Parts: sequence; C-alpha cells; structure tokens
Amino acid sequence: MIWGTQYKVLPRCRAVGLCIPLLRRRRLHPRLRRLSSTGRGARLIPFLDLKAPYVELRAEIDAAIARVLASGWYILGPEVDAFEHEFATYVDAKHCVSLANGLDALHLALRALDVGPGDEVIVPSNTYIATWLAVSQCGATPVPVEPVESTYNLDPALIEAAITPRTKVILPVHLYGQPADMDPILAIARKHGLRVLEDGAQAHGARYKGKRIGAHSDVVAWSFYPGKNLGALGDGGAITTNDPALDDRIRVLRNYGSRVKYVNEIQGYNSRLDPIRRGAARQAEASRCVECTTRCRRTALSRRTARHRTDAAACP
Ligand SMILES: Cc1ncc(COP(=O)(O)O)c(C=O)c1O
Repeated sequence: MIWGTQYKVLPRCRAVGLCIPLLRRRRLHPRLRRLSSTGRGARLIPFLDLKAPYVELRAEIDAAIARVLASGWYILGPEVDAFEHEFATYVDAKHCVSLANGLDALHLALRALDVGPGDEVIVPSNTYIATWLAVSQCGATPVPVEPVESTYNLDPALIEAAITPRTKVILPVHLYGQPADMDPILAIARKHGLRVLEDGAQAHGARYKGKRIGAHSDVVAWSFYPGKNLGALGDGGAITTNDPALDDRIRVLRNYGSRVKYVNEIQGYNSRLDPIRRGAARQAEASRCVECTTRCRRTALSRRTARHRTDAAACP
C-alpha cells in the first residue's frame, strides 16, 4: 500500500505498539485509520527518500548553490554550460541542451525533427503520459505499439505494421532503466527513412550493448525530475544528440526562438534550466549514484516481473 509517494505501509508488522501512536499523531488516510483501529498494526518505512542524496552530497551541493547565488547568473550561464558539457560526456554524446523538464525535452526534440499536424509518431502503448503528450502538443498523432513481455518496452517486431506514409518518428522509451532493443528499431527507421527519438527519462546511466544511452539514435530526451535516477532540485530536463543541427535548433527553440537577444528567428518557447536546480545534477553525483540507482531499479523490476509470472502460472 502506498501512502503519498514518500512511505510504504506494511500491515501486520511487529512494531505495532510503537507505530500506531505515531500514525495517530499524523493526518491519516481513512483506510489507514481503519487499519490502526482494527489493531492490525502498521509500520512506516521510507519508500522514496529524496533527502538521502542531499545528505550524502551536502558539501558539494551547498558549495554549488553558494557559488550560483554569488555569481548573479540565475538562468543558464556558465554553471549550466558546465553541466551540459559534463552530462554530454557522461552519456557519450557530442551535444547536450538543458531544458526545463522532460516533457519539454520530448516536445522540443519532436519540433526540431519537424513533427507537426498530420504526422504520426510511433510510441509504446506502455509508457508515462509525457511520451504521448509531447506528440499531441505538436499536433501530431501518437500511434501505439505493444511492448515485449520480457522488458515492457516497444516490441520491434510489431513496429513495421504500424508504419504509414504519415509516420515521421519512432519514439522508444527505456522504461525502468531497461533499454529498448535499439538495433532493430534503428534498422527499421533506416529502411523507412524515419527519425528516432529516445525517451531516456528513466534510464540515466543505463547501457545498451555496452554503450550508455545518450546518442544511439538521432536524439535522446531526459528528465531530471527529483525522483529520477539523476534528479535535480526541482524540475529539469535535457536532450543529448550527436547531430549539431538538432543541437542548434533545440537551443534556439528553448529560448524564445532567439539566438541573439531580441532577435526572434522562429516561434520558440521558454524552457531554460536554472543553475540552482542543476546544482544537484553534477557529474560527481552522476558517476557515484546514477548507475547504482539504475541497477537497483532494474533488479526490482525483474523481481516484480518474475513474481507476476509466478502469480499468473498459479492462476487456474
Ligand atoms: C518515461 C518518461 N518520459 C517523460 C517524463 C517526463 O519528465 P518530466 O516530469 O521531467 O516532464 C517522465 C517523467 O516521469 C517519464 O517517466
């Protein structure tokens, strides 16, 4: 049972006496109140401890924030440039453009790939809503394709049947840190002249065939939402790419369509990262925490998948 996003409640645990008064002092969800009054006992255990990385990296993060406050650069600027360079290096891509969040990263990447009304984008039927929403924000149509059972990711064997003359982009998602099977996806894209945008929001540090997710395809969209493998101190996002034209286009799109102040070349957006939010997402943290978190989440997923299979097998 999940209470908010912060705690998991374990019914019938040993520490009943200690925990019930603690629960009563808080505002309880009615189901939890019933749980405690029936005497079944409950214990709160941390489910997602967002403070833990801060506690571990307090000195570095505090120093980074102090540096930003003293610098007078509160949007973009040298600290954000440094982060872009470090993150591009970390994921083995030539370019990184930081953005306000992961949804913007998907949306602006699609805009940069010239996706618009009348176009179709192939998306996994099983993903977070942002993947689909970014497509509809461009006025295009998301075309769902079912996942492979073993990874929950886009099934390459089903993609070709979904391609029509209006298809422009294939958008695989690397769910729970497990990379989608990129080689067959890229082969299909090449065969049909399509572009590929990867949703890497859950896959910082994950590797496909030994190479980190970051530039297997045309462009990768990232989220630095605080609960992600690489979380910021607030919303944050980015794209990485090896294509200098996409890098340039997305840089202009994120800043009101402007390269030079007050010269607005195209209809753009305001999707800029600020250096304080970026403060929590540095290379030091990336190398120390990200792969460990990704590995843990992947293991948890395989356990859950195995349990579902056992449960299904047990069904009459
Ligand atoms: C797969 C996936 N794509 C995109 C996003 C959107 O990221 P954000 O919340 O930073 O906009 C998320 C966030 O949960 C996600 O899980």
